Amino acid sequence: MKREIRVGLIGHKFMGKAHSHALHDVAFFFDLEAVPVMHTLCGIGPDVAATAARYGWRNWTESWEAVVANPEIDAVAVCTPGNTHRAIAAAAARAGKHVLCEKPLALNAAESGEMLAAARQSGVRHMVNFNYRRLPAVNLAKQLIEEGRLGTLYTFRATYYQDWPLDPAFPFLWRMDKSVAGAGSMADKGSHIVDLARFLVGDFAEVAATSEIFVKQRLEGGVPREVTTDDAAAFVARFHNGALGVFATSRMAAGHKNALGFEVNGSRGSVIFDLERLNELQVYFTSDPREAQGFRTVMVTQSEHKYIQSWWPPGHIIGWEHTFVHQYYEFLNAIAAGEGGSPSFEDGHRAQQVLDAIERAAAEKRWVAPGEAEA
Ligand SMILES: NC(=O)c1ccc[n+]([C@@H]2O[C@H](COP(=O)([O-])OP(=O)(O)OC[C@H]3O[C@@H](n4cnc5c(N)ncnc54)[C@H](O)[C@@H]3O)[C@@H](O)[C@H]2O)c1
Repeated sequence: MKREIRVGLIGHKFMGKAHSHALHDVAFFFDLEAVPVMHTLCGIGPDVAATAARYGWRNWTESWEAVVANPEIDAVAVCTPGNTHRAIAAAAARAGKHVLCEKPLALNAAESGEMLAAARQSGVRHMVNFNYRRLPAVNLAKQLIEEGRLGTLYTFRATYYQDWPLDPAFPFLWRMDKSVAGAGSMADKGSHIVDLARFLVGDFAEVAATSEIFVKQRLEGGVPREVTTDDAAAFVARFHNGALGVFATSRMAAGHKNALGFEVNGSRGSVIFDLERLNELQVYFTSDPREAQGFRTVMVTQSEHKYIQSWWPPGHIIGWEHTFVHQYYEFLNAIAAGEGGSPSFEDGHRAQQVLDAIERAAAEKRWVAPGEAEA
């Protein structure tokens, strides 16, 4: 019989659903040494019991402390707002549970550093859910970069646009409260593209940034509340390897629902990715015959592409939710192996240092080096 990993999942709404679905699918599609058991779902609200039953959880609770204290639980997934990540993830790690925490890892680098230290001290596996690393097309981009097919990297460009609160009548949510969310589009969307930049290009040397809150008050239960997180941000970066980066995030970009895109340009070629066409990668190589040069679209659904062998025949495309299945595949494999697990809390902490630097650069209107923001 295979080793069982009994999971406690904290958070039963958007990410709670995505993680529950992934836990259902991962052992069905992937051959795992350690298989998950959906032990306990935790959330707050009158619908937790019904949600737990519908998603296939054996137990439910409203107390994350009870999940962390439960000796039957081996691993904890944290799918709650950012201001709760540090307490839950650090307590879970100290209780000897492996932890997969949603992004951004924390409200700031002081918190993420504490989480990383707690996980290292306990010797548990720790991962942050930068799920876009788990796309086959993103892995093809990384492979081409590592093989030198793009040559020396010169520029990286990334945007992450949504438009869900575009209407000023859209109500106040926890994502608009800095004390709960940490920052707005800059951290929520920005954490994903900062991580992709680190994954594909390398570590950030310094950043300059600006941000804006376009709708400064929104109604909460009919009462106006001040919005304290940014609606949009723009930043530029220098990487340690000499490349330059330009980034933009917005939750007020009319028409864009979940538009993450990036481009990497090097001395020998380029790649372009668009999340709304996530099975594709556009590639350009200077080594192609001149008369046939141009961007071409690679359908990233061959069995050679990462994760694809466990899914469908070529051309039978996958979707956004598959990234969560792939993340659990990596998480459970790391637990079974007793080592590894990427992106780890260290990656979450490094991304957090960049986000802190971006926030400080915007506030002080100057270049800031990640890490300097903690001084
Ligand atoms: N990886 C991604 O693509 C992605 C996408 C969306 C959100 N997220 C991240 O996931 C996290 C959750 O976001 P969401 O959109 O699912 O939020 P949500 O508002 O939909 O759900 C939050 C959940 O947390 C629970 N919760 C809040 N405080 C709690 C507490 N003290 N104890 C127990 N449960 C508590 C709520 O009951 C709810 O179930 C955030 O960190 C967010 O940034 C990641």
